[in-house]
Amino acid sequence: MGADIIDGKAFAERLRARVAEAVPAFAAAAGRPPGLAVVLVGEDPASQVYVRSKGKATRAAGMESFEHRLPDTVSEAELIALVEALNRDPRVDGILVQLPLPAAIDDKAVIAAIDPAKDVDGFHVANAGRLAVGEEALVPCTPLGCLMLLKDRLGDLSGLEAVVIGRSNIVGKPMAQLLLGENATVTIAHSRTRDLPAVVRRADIVVAAVGRPEMVKGDWLRPGAVVIDVGINRVDGKLVGDVDFAGACETASAITPVPGGVGPMTIAVLLRNTLVAGATRLGLPAPEGV
Ligand code: GUN
Repeated sequence: MGADIIDGKAFAERLRARVAEAVPAFAAAAGRPPGLAVVLVGEDPASQVYVRSKGKATRAAGMESFEHRLPDTVSEAELIALVEALNRDPRVDGILVQLPLPAAIDDKAVIAAIDPAKDVDGFHVANAGRLAVGEEALVPCTPLGCLMLLKDRLGDLSGLEAVVIGRSNIVGKPMAQLLLGENATVTIAHSRTRDLPAVVRRADIVVAAVGRPEMVKGDWLRPGAVVIDVGINRVDGKLVGDVDFAGACETASAITPVPGGVGPMTIAVLLRNTLVAGATRLGLPAPEGV
C-alpha cells in the first residue's frame, strides 16, 4: 500500500509565487508595497525562528516587513500601545503578534487591540465571528492552508465526512468552520471524545491538530481517507506529526508529511492574507490568483 504524499511545500511555493506576482498591481494602486508588521515579545527560540522566516518570506514576495522585538519585561499596556500605533500606520496592512506571549500579558486583550482589518492571523473575535456566520473574514493561516490542500486534492468537499481532532481557536475551531462552509459534515473531536478511533473511522477527511506525537494510528482510518497532519512535535530531536505516518500510509489515500506538509502553507497564507487585507482595506480590486 502507499498513500499519495501531499506536497505542501511545493503548493506553498506556488502560492507564494502567485502572491509575489500580484504585488506589483497592489503597489501601483497603493503607491507602496504591501506591509506586514510582526511583533515578537521575549526570546523564545522557536518563535524567533518563525519570526525570522516570516520576515524573509515577506521580503522575498516583494512586500515590506516591519519587525518589532520587545523584551519579555514589556507591559501589556506598552504592547497594546505598539499595536495601536501599527493600526494607525498606513504602510502596515497586516499585524501579527507572535504567540505565545509571556504569562503576565493577557493575549486576549492584545488580540482585541488589533484592527480587525489588519488581523492577518484571523484571531480577533470580529474575524472569528464573521467566519462563523459565513461573512467575508480574515481566516487563520494554518486552517486556511489545510483547506487549500484539501480542495486541491479532493475538489468539491460537499457531503464528505470530516473529523477535526483538536478544538483550538487557532486551528481546530476555524478548520471546522471552513469545512462546514464547504458543505462537509463536520465533527470536532478532542481529548474528552469517547472512542476516538471509532469517530475517526467515519471520516473521509481527517485533520489532526492535537499536538500529541503520532497519536492517530493507521488502523483508525477509513480506507481511502485523506489525512492532514497539523502536528509539529519534536521527539528525540526528530519532527513528527500527530499521525503515525507509516501506519497511515497503509490505509489513507493521501497524507501530508511532517515536515513539508502543512507547515510551509502557514507562511504562504500569511502573505496571501496580508495582500488581501491591504486590498480590502484600501478598496482595491481583489488580488488575482491567491
Ligand atoms: N504561534 C504559533 N503559530 C502562530 C500563528 O499562526 N500566529 C501567531 N501569531 N503566533 C503563532
